[in-house]
Amino acid sequence: MADPKSREGQRYDTAEIHAFLDALHGPHDKALGLAFSAPERTGLPQIQLGQQEGGLLTLLMRLIGARRVVEVGTLAGYSGLRLARGLQPGGRLWTLEYHPRHAMVARPALVAAPPGVTVKLLEGDAKETLPKLEIEGPFDAVFLDADKAGYAEYGAWAAQNLRAGGLLIADNVYLFGRLLEENEEAEAVRRFHHEAAEAFDTCVVPTPDGLLIGIKR
Ligand SMILES: C[S@@+](CC[C@H](N)C(=O)[O-])C[C@H]1O[C@@H](n2cnc3c(N)ncnc32)[C@H](O)[C@@H]1O
Repeated sequence: MADPKSREGQRYDTAEIHAFLDALHGPHDKALGLAFSAPERTGLPQIQLGQQEGGLLTLLMRLIGARRVVEVGTLAGYSGLRLARGLQPGGRLWTLEYHPRHAMVARPALVAAPPGVTVKLLEGDAKETLPKLEIEGPFDAVFLDADKAGYAEYGAWAAQNLRAGGLLIADNVYLFGRLLEENEEAEAVRRFHHEAAEAFDTCVVPTPDGLLIGIKR
């Protein structure tokens, strides 16, 4: 059920509820705990997914039997490890990261991917890397979590390079509450929403900053 206040954005979760649930659902083992805490330990921005969002990525990969997945925005490798853990044996994850320092922190975290799953971290601007990746497609899933001004371009790439039935997943689709503002970044994310709704069956999960999930038609 939802009541009018929750439809308007009121939330019922608290830090204590999160702690209770995080201990039960998709709890961190040592490798996930290290990947999650790496930004704080190494002075990177602490902008990785939350634990339950990470768990959702693993479950979604398992649900679709994913083998070939692209992530845009690695940071320290937490979401990459969550994706890798949902892949089928023989699966491959390509994760794209702009900052060499972030890539350096992520590499050891991603070594904890399951045996038989290959993770390739590609350094550089995703706008340049994605066209070179096309040859590896079609892909089962694309997860977007990088510069929001690039979302329209990344979403269009996903629409071209996902198989029918493949998943587009994108974080921060409320744009930190600024989605409806008049500026270039917000316009790009709104364009992303329009294009996603056109090429995918979509919904937005009301996570703290909105998580779009779409199935390619
Ligand atoms: C929100 S963080 C990713 C968090 C990560 N997905 C997680 O949950 O563990 C965004 C990352 O995208 C990277 N990034 C930003 N613009 C990029 C671009 N154009 N190409 C590749 N990576 C980019 C940033 O350097 C940053 O590490």
